[in-house]
Amino acid sequence: MSTETARPKTITVPEIAARKGAEPIVCLTAYTAPIARHLDPHVDVLLVGDSVGMVLYGLPNTLGVTLDMMINHGAAVVRGRSQALVAVDLPFGTYQSSPRDAYKAATRVLTETGCEAVKLEGGVEMADTVAFLASRGIPVLGHVGLMPQSVKSAGGYHVRGRRAGDAERVVKDARAIAAAGAFAVVVEGVIEPLARQITAEVAIPTIGIGASAACDGQVLVTDDMLGLYSEFTPRFVKRYAELGATVQAAAAAYASDVRARRFPATEHLYLLKPGPKRVAS
Ligand code: KIV
Repeated sequence: MSTETARPKTITVPEIAARKGAEPIVCLTAYTAPIARHLDPHVDVLLVGDSVGMVLYGLPNTLGVTLDMMINHGAAVVRGRSQALVAVDLPFGTYQSSPRDAYKAATRVLTETGCEAVKLEGGVEMADTVAFLASRGIPVLGHVGLMPQSVKSAGGYHVRGRRAGDAERVVKDARAIAAAGAFAVVVEGVIEPLARQITAEVAIPTIGIGASAACDGQVLVTDDMLGLYSEFTPRFVKRYAELGATVQAAAAAYASDVRARRFPATEHLYLLKPGPKRVAS
């Protein structure tokens, strides 16, 4: 009989799709294997978001993120997870030009990382692309509302849905992505009643961020909720830890130990082992 502990089964795309109106989907971002390992037992979905560009690389927005960056981080997260479904963002410029380009980028992501799904931003204008991918075996997580890859055309990160025409546009986007075959959709930065309405109207799970507690799930950028990324903290972020302060305190303690020659101490050193006993002749 094998004494090995069975590896937990990875959550599948149909299992997430079946969570519509059921137990809320828990999603957090991850970009590295160790963070994936820490989060995995607690979440249903690990999102390798293109927020990696801002959070890990210090870029001013997500536009400079490349497909190779997403593939490297996606593969690391897949290596670190056991049971969570992993979805990887398609970066700006790799899928908007045509369904074929999107297919090429998405197949690279799926085959080179081992993840379960790709995420792409867009509504009505991306519906044909979502349908093209979904009908060819590529699970797509949609993303509507505030779309960070459109920061230049939107002129910033503005909450969506305050004006009637704008709200109608976001609803149409969500409907189009659901009808095109996405298995779930991220709804970001919209007024609460609009997120509630979209969740009630579309047949696929909505995963909210700055949206509504009525959504079928929630996602946060892990570094935001851990207090590690503090360039800008949007209203929708709840801080569950202050790791930035913890890191600073640890660095200060280490610096003080090194300067006072308290570190390394004897227990951190490789000492000479006592040699074999001499026999008197
Ligand atoms: O890139 C990202 O992390 C995302 C989430 C904020 C949904 O798209």
